[in-house]
Amino acid sequence: MMKLITWNDHIDLLENALSGNGVFLVARDEAGKANPMTIGWGAAGRIWSIPTFTVLVRRSRYTYDCLWQEESFTVNVPRGDDLAAALDFCGHHSGRDIDKAAACGITFAPGTQVSTPIIAGCALYYECRIVMRKQLEESAFSAPRIVDKYYHDDDHHMIVIGEIVAAYVDPTRV
Ligand SMILES: Cc1cc2nc3c(=O)[nH]c(=O)nc-3n(C[C@H](O)[C@H](O)[C@H](O)COP(=O)(O)O)c2cc1C
Repeated sequence: MMKLITWNDHIDLLENALSGNGVFLVARDEAGKANPMTIGWGAAGRIWSIPTFTVLVRRSRYTYDCLWQEESFTVNVPRGDDLAAALDFCGHHSGRDIDKAAACGITFAPGTQVSTPIIAGCALYYECRIVMRKQLEESAFSAPRIVDKYYHDDDHHMIVIGEIVAAYVDPTRV
């Protein structure tokens, strides 16, 4: 039984995961198949006076295509080293080439407020309805060191901001 929380409860768990093995971003493709991708960049916060989750997804990712046609996404945060092998797999293989969930034994469960599913076995979950998508480009940056470090080619990120419409934890894992 999941326990509903407010968006900033257990934010330390999110932060540790983002700066560690990563977390799963799930979005569905055109055929409705859910695709898990590992992300290390993201933020829960408050924008437009609503709780939001912001993700950055490079143009080259299959997830990028998914997020253009999806209305929602989920963010799935494992505890500690839980699901570490699956995070690694989903961060190095593309849903364009392989059914990643099947390949690494991920089990999906239905979302409660969105049609994008969640991943069983995580500790913390955010269900998000997409509010905004914005493609970044080099001219948007005023910090050359960021461009030099992260954008050697044209593979810029798209920023996607979703309203957190449900946040909850598995009480057995937090
Ligand atoms: C720890 C980790 C964090 C990552 N963070 C991001 C991220 O924040 N944004 C991004 O676009 N790619 C990120 N990646 C790379 C994608 O997960 C990877 O390219 C993946 O294969 C894309 O899957 P897809 O093509 O199915 O969308 C990360 C990879 C790892 C291993």
